[in-house]
Amino acid sequence: DSLDTLYKAVGKIYFGNIAEASKLSGQNGAILKRNFGQVTPEWSMKWEATEPNRDQFTFDASDAVVDWASSNGKSIRGHALLWHIALPQWVQSITDKAELTSVIENHIANVVGRWKGKIRAWDVVNEIFNDDGSLRASVFSSVLGEDFVGIAFRAARKADPKAKLYINDYSLDNVEWAKLPALVRKVKEWKAQGIPIDGIGSQTHLQPGMAGAIESSLRELTTADVEVAVTELDIVGANPEEYKTVVQACYHVPKCVGVTIWGVRDPDSWQADTKPLLFDANFDAKPAYGAIVDYLKGL
Ligand code: G3I
Repeated sequence: DSLDTLYKAVGKIYFGNIAEASKLSGQNGAILKRNFGQVTPEWSMKWEATEPNRDQFTFDASDAVVDWASSNGKSIRGHALLWHIALPQWVQSITDKAELTSVIENHIANVVGRWKGKIRAWDVVNEIFNDDGSLRASVFSSVLGEDFVGIAFRAARKADPKAKLYINDYSLDNVEWAKLPALVRKVKEWKAQGIPIDGIGSQTHLQPGMAGAIESSLRELTTADVEVAVTELDIVGANPEEYKTVVQACYHVPKCVGVTIWGVRDPDSWQADTKPLLFDANFDAKPAYGAIVDYLKGL
């Protein structure tokens, strides 16, 4: 079976996972090749990995992922251009508006421009809202206010007009939570100003019991007149029914393009001890994998 083949067969664009150079061979590489049609670099396209020092770019690790994906027919999600984490100190200490603007534009021109035409979607800004819907304090918002959003999206559009440009965040998993309506309101406002936002990424890092609210959340996110994607799915405990419910949620929302799982096997997860993924330490499929396959085959 292949999760991506099954998801494409019912009209979705991809079923994806994360990748890095060290995980493209052996059993991990085999599972990626067979099951997933899209990959997101887990770390190697972040600012600290691509421009650790001003105007000095390092692309070996990220090039390995892009080359592997391109030669294996996988689409790529670029992640993440502006994020307050994995952000080098030399950027965080900038206080001048004009300087930060040119640093952002230069970063995005070099990073996005490098793989022009090869990246399906970019997480242009990541986790820029607080849970209460206010804008998170970061060097970007402190120095530039909201203007950093337009600066980043316009620079990305200029560097690769083909890429879908996303805003990505977590805690968008329930319409009752404050962040979701706040983000939708701002995306509508920014789009009305001509800022080129094409998609909203909902990271979807779930605790047990949260899967049932995903479909209405994704549907609400699409009211911002964008495509949506589940970009970093993992579920504490990996309950089979809950994984099926999230895959079904994206299937039921026409403008949801696909689901990306945030890891292949449990020990490699950023929260390994909660066993949140589809494969175990021996790279064997867990019950949640079978639940997704059975659901998709039944459609
Ligand atoms: O291997 C590098 C080393 O070469 C480098 O010099 C050093 C510099 O910090 O770090 C090492 O990289 C580590 C990296 O993972 C690769 O393994 C970083 O220390 C470590 O902080 C990084 O953690 C990642 C984290 O984001 C921060 O970038 C996790 O793997 C990754 O799962 C996690 O993913 C995030 C998403 O990007 C955004 N949403 C939340 C999600 C979970 O936190």
